Amino acid sequence: MTAANGERRALVTQIRREADGVVSLRLEDPDGAALPEWEPGAHLDLRLPSGAVRQYSLCGDPADASAYTVAVLREEAGRGGSAEIHDTALVGREVTIRGPRNRFPLVPAPAYCFVAGGIGITPILGMIRRLAAGDVPWTLHYGGRSLPSMAFRDVLAEWGAGRVEFLPEDETGRLPLDEILAAAPAGAAVYTCGPPGLIRAMEQRVGAALHFERFTGEAQPENDEDTETFEVELARSGDIVRVPPGESILDVVRAVRPEVMSSCEEGFCGTCETKVLAGVPEHRDTILTAADRERNATMMICVGRSRSPRLVLDL
Ligand code: FES
Repeated sequence: MTAANGERRALVTQIRREADGVVSLRLEDPDGAALPEWEPGAHLDLRLPSGAVRQYSLCGDPADASAYTVAVLREEAGRGGSAEIHDTALVGREVTIRGPRNRFPLVPAPAYCFVAGGIGITPILGMIRRLAAGDVPWTLHYGGRSLPSMAFRDVLAEWGAGRVEFLPEDETGRLPLDEILAAAPAGAAVYTCGPPGLIRAMEQRVGAALHFERFTGEAQPENDEDTETFEVELARSGDIVRVPPGESILDVVRAVRPEVMSSCEEGFCGTCETKVLAGVPEHRDTILTAADRERNATMMICVGRSRSPRLVLDL
């Protein structure tokens, strides 16, 4: 059952090792109900037992409403969310989820060229599962540090070497992006997901037509020159809070609404996206498109500020 804030409980029914440092989690409704539909590219917010919130792309079969599957890379230099998942006996326990939400949709195209780096395979796997049921041509070029570190090789190998190419760096070197793109059919939609260096290299080659999803933040730096205090009205309660320089809207809102969800707090994950009902936000995230920014319908309150003296938010 879904709470008013879009959260629902989910039972962890299976954890499976998918590669060195990568496990997948199967999440089901605790009462066995069908889960809401999702489209390839979508992700879930997962609230862990510690309270930390993290986003994971759905990588199971979009046609299977009995479970969501996510995969988690243990990131030693991360903020602890992945280590908590790897180190906690979660099978049989409930977690809180929100979503799925999709910021990386599979657009209609005559062909697809997918380039995945490491754990960036997860959203692309859901896309391939969907495409495999039809007859649109696609290829996947999947890079990683080494074969044992690359998740879902067994599933992917079933689609055959003509479609799926494994390119472990310790055997074949860096991904040959120029060759890959030159071999893509004319008109192919090009999708990539992986570390920031891969996305930058793909953006340089493909430009604005690239479909991509970042896994780590490259948010705009904080502006030390913020000098203005502004007000935020929380429309659902009528509370009005003041946001001084040096504090984020999220920080201030949390004082009165501790349940507001966040994760990256750097403007790249979308967890704190909030509807703007009035006022003019100043967007500082790296998620919204130029068109989204002009519409001003939502904002990321972990980094965004206000251009007007007051913002009214749907909180
Ligand atoms: S918490 Fe990630 S965008 Fe705000």
